[in-house]
Amino acid sequence: MPKLGGLEKVKSDLRKVEKMKIVACGTARHAGLVGQYLFEELSGIATEVDYASEFRYRKSVWDDRSAVLAISQSGETADTLAAIREANEKGVITLGITNTVGSTLSRETTAGVYNHIGPEISVASSKAFTSQLVILVLMAVNFGRMRQLSLIEGRNILQEVHNIPVKIQKILQQNDHIRDIANRYKDYTNFGFLGRKYNYPIAIEGALKLKEISYIHSEGYPSGELKHGSIALIDPEFPSMFIAPNDSVYDKNISNMEEIASRKGKIIAVATEGNEEISRVADDVIYIPDTLECLTPLLTAIPMQLFAYHVASLKGLDIDQPRNLAKSVTVE
Ligand code: AGP
Repeated sequence: MPKLGGLEKVKSDLRKVEKMKIVACGTARHAGLVGQYLFEELSGIATEVDYASEFRYRKSVWDDRSAVLAISQSGETADTLAAIREANEKGVITLGITNTVGSTLSRETTAGVYNHIGPEISVASSKAFTSQLVILVLMAVNFGRMRQLSLIEGRNILQEVHNIPVKIQKILQQNDHIRDIANRYKDYTNFGFLGRKYNYPIAIEGALKLKEISYIHSEGYPSGELKHGSIALIDPEFPSMFIAPNDSVYDKNISNMEEIASRKGKIIAVATEGNEEISRVADDVIYIPDTLECLTPLLTAIPMQLFAYHVASLKGLDIDQPRNLAKSVTVE
């Protein structure tokens, strides 16, 4: 069982939790969307994710088995704090994940977990996002072991978490390859990002990364949504980043990619090492090492961050301080 000291004092309450609501903004909310799959698959807790800025307008239904989890790198985001205050008002147990010790979020939640990854300087979140994903995995295993997750299942996941840093290093070694791809796509004015299940949130995070540091209009969406409208955008001037690791939804992703390719839409695919068939439909491929499906976001996030970084850098833009953005949005 992973030891999360900040949750020890509420352990008995956490055993009773049956409904979890995750509230956050921007990249932190995208981590929460991965958390939704983790908590439901590993812990069996019904989980819903809300934009923190929308949460306080809802008449959410609460009971003594509900909990709210707020995710915030700064711990000072006004919308996220407002959401937590609303939950506290309802007497619901509130948990936090933050990178800022002593932040308002850490003081106004019942319990929580610190990222402890050091200050994140760039406005665009990168290491904080990866750390939020790791903590959500540890929380999901922690909650799962209080419920149906077996000792062996939990141990297998945690052992693979230990292998992730080496696997991330392998992706970082493709830096020059990813820069070359970025150079071929830096002048497009629109971009789609697609993924399914655990990697749908990574698709919308990849779109946010590109949009916020390169100013290219980017849209992320579940690849199953392609046929419900977005496919109208596909043409040779509208490229797509497709996150398609070897997982339970790979075949669905491949058929979506074929739909895009048949309309002459260019595709950059993120795929698992050794996958030769994907080059049949993708114009460019970034390979990641194989891992457990629930841990693929920890790896697929890296090409998203590197691609956005190189596009912005090749366009001569300020990576750390993009126009119009602040590191912590302390106003509503
Ligand atoms: C992410 O790259 C952005 N900087 C932004 O979306 C950020 O994630 C959001 O404002 C939430 O910030 P927080 O994690 O400090 O609450």
